[in-house]
Amino acid sequence: MRLKNKVAIVTGGARGIGQAVSELFAKEGATVIIVDLLAQGQEVADGINNNKGTAEYHAVSVTDRPAIEQLFKQVNDQHGKIDILINNAGITRDRTLEKMSEEEWDAVIDVNLKGVFICTQAAVPYMKSNKYGRIVSAASNVGLRGNFGQTNYAATKAGVIAMSKTWTVEFGKHGITANAIAPGFTMTDMVKKIPEEHFETIKASIPLKTVAQPIDIAYGYLYLASDEAKFISGICLTIDGGVSR
Ligand SMILES: NC(=O)c1ccc[n+]([C@@H]2O[C@H](COP(=O)([O-])OP(=O)(O)OC[C@H]3O[C@@H](n4cnc5c(N)ncnc54)[C@H](O)[C@@H]3O)[C@@H](O)[C@H]2O)c1
Repeated sequence: MRLKNKVAIVTGGARGIGQAVSELFAKEGATVIIVDLLAQGQEVADGINNNKGTAEYHAVSVTDRPAIEQLFKQVNDQHGKIDILINNAGITRDRTLEKMSEEEWDAVIDVNLKGVFICTQAAVPYMKSNKYGRIVSAASNVGLRGNFGQTNYAATKAGVIAMSKTWTVEFGKHGITANAIAPGFTMTDMVKKIPEEHFETIKASIPLKTVAQPIDIAYGYLYLASDEAKFISGICLTIDGGVSR
């Protein structure tokens, strides 16, 4: 098992890519702490616990600093450490620049960027004291390439890549790595609202002619969160079927 005895916090672990990461990490021996607002996070945790894994669900928003700080302290007190932080929670509020409201801008910045800032700030002291840490955060290939109607989202995902590079130089000496993952189009609730005809155009534009399933992205998280990736920090691993090349 590649994550035996590790304690991993997964934000946005109730569904989609975060659920796949939570289930895969548990299968690989980690104790998984799911942080999400959706009550179905409890079902994901129950499923893991019924399948010989160990998981907890906590209904906390990544934007709620006092609640995140309290939760991470509780995790450290109960489990003795925080080895892995997966900053996966994210939202979209798509609109072209000319139509985008400040509320839509702020909502996406709050969760996708400030949420990553808050959670990482809360986890790093525990990682430092343990001289070990793996921080892997959700970027997107949109953060590398931009995308129609996603000014707010693209800004946050480029920001996540830049923050990871910054943490690489700030925390490398403490045994902490910080990397980002840039998924391409992945079949989750986040993209299910896209109309069928647009979906076919997207598929045709991907060199591998298919979209990702959440597990395809989760394997990237597993690698960067594992001991095997101990000399990798500051990268953005693109998993997008060959779109970004
Ligand atoms: N699906 C894709 O095509 C795709 C592509 C590139 C990047 N990503 C990124 O991967 C991550 C996961 O995406 P997904 O497709 O699984 O999305 P999803 O919408 O299926 O899941 C996101 C999860 O984050 C949770 N969440 C949202 N706001 C939260 C908050 N404030 N606090 C705690 N949890 C919160 C949601 O409740 C949900 O469970 C996101 O950061 C997304 O931007 C997704």
